[in-house]
Amino acid sequence: MERNQNILKDTFGRQHSYLRISLTELCNLRCTYCMPAEGIQLSPRSHIMNYDEVYTIAKTFVDHGVTKIRLTGGEPLVRKDVSIILAKLATLNVELAISTNAVTVDRFIDIFKACNIRNINVSLDSLVAEKFNQITRRNDFDKVYKNILLLIKEGFNVKLNAVLIKDFNDNEIVDFINLTKELPISVRFIEFMPFDGNKWDKAKMVTYTEVMTLVNTSFETNEIIRIKDAPNDTSKNYKIKGYKGSFAIISSVTNPFCDSCNRIRLTANGRLKNCLFSSSESDLLTPLRAGKNIEPIIQKAIRAKFKIRGGMDTLEKLESPELHSKNRSMISIGG
Ligand code: GTP
Ligand code: 5AD
Ligand code: SF4
Repeated sequence: MERNQNILKDTFGRQHSYLRISLTELCNLRCTYCMPAEGIQLSPRSHIMNYDEVYTIAKTFVDHGVTKIRLTGGEPLVRKDVSIILAKLATLNVELAISTNAVTVDRFIDIFKACNIRNINVSLDSLVAEKFNQITRRNDFDKVYKNILLLIKEGFNVKLNAVLIKDFNDNEIVDFINLTKELPISVRFIEFMPFDGNKWDKAKMVTYTEVMTLVNTSFETNEIIRIKDAPNDTSKNYKIKGYKGSFAIISSVTNPFCDSCNRIRLTANGRLKNCLFSSSESDLLTPLRAGKNIEPIIQKAIRAKFKIRGGMDTLEKLESPELHSKNRSMISIGG
């Protein structure tokens, strides 16, 4: 097949070079903002991509211009054959990255290094063990924190993701920033986003503006440095003068960054989502298993991408519960 970069270009001229692959719908934590307490209806096992299928689909995207692949979940590291998948994807000419809750990261250090994975994003919503355990509905704070320090010691580029929830962890924003004084990490504060079953409520959200108001009252103006964002960054990046690390805000709700979007998603059951908020999906796995060419399906899906947040271009639309329930739960999208 002739190399044709354009199947990944949408009608707004956005070239998609970053593929996020969810490897599993399962997770060893139960974060309240990510999944309903009762769990989700899981795909039958036979509908989940096997490692050869993950590789074949990923390679199709790489052949058409994808240069970065991030593995997500659920929790990608709970998948039994994750090491095989990492090794196979490492043979593609891409930047390979992973988003994890870090519960079992200590078992994968050598594999990450062997597969040239440098960039690891870790969810951490509280620095207080009881609160972390409350939001994750598990008791793994100590393990997670130790593993974050291990990743830093082993030289990985670590970003911490904290989803901010009003009156839950917004009183820890300065503590998180202070962590960057000695640790060379990026702490990203994420606006709480609505997905199926996550009981989103605008009132629970802490906005970009609120975070920066607090930062401005907690640090001297001349200490707060706005860092230049990378071309397709989701985050607005800052640092405190003299600190080793940085902090950022991911403001999908109040300040979407869709104009520079280069991301597409593949779910664990082999469906292409052209946007985190898309309500429609394109099945790639069934045609692949039937020996069909998936490229036209990919092209059609990319061309159907909306300009902003899967068509939820206003806050009013984003707030409407019937639109959230047309999308999946976050646990089966992978962020
Ligand atoms: P980098 O690859 O380091 O830029 O990380 P990332 O921000 O793409 O990935 P990560 O998995 O760490 O996600 C952090 C947060 O950003 C999560 O809440 C994601 O849902 C959100 N996020 C990631 N990609 C997108 C995107 O394309 N659109 C929106 N709206 N949010 C995104
Ligand atoms: N809003 C914002 N971010 C979320 N994540 C999961 N659910 C939500 C949500 N409702 C984040 C997790 C993880 C990343 C991949 O997605 O914190 O770090
Ligand atoms: Fe891209 Fe959709 Fe995220 Fe906007 S909301 S940045 S279009 S994935």
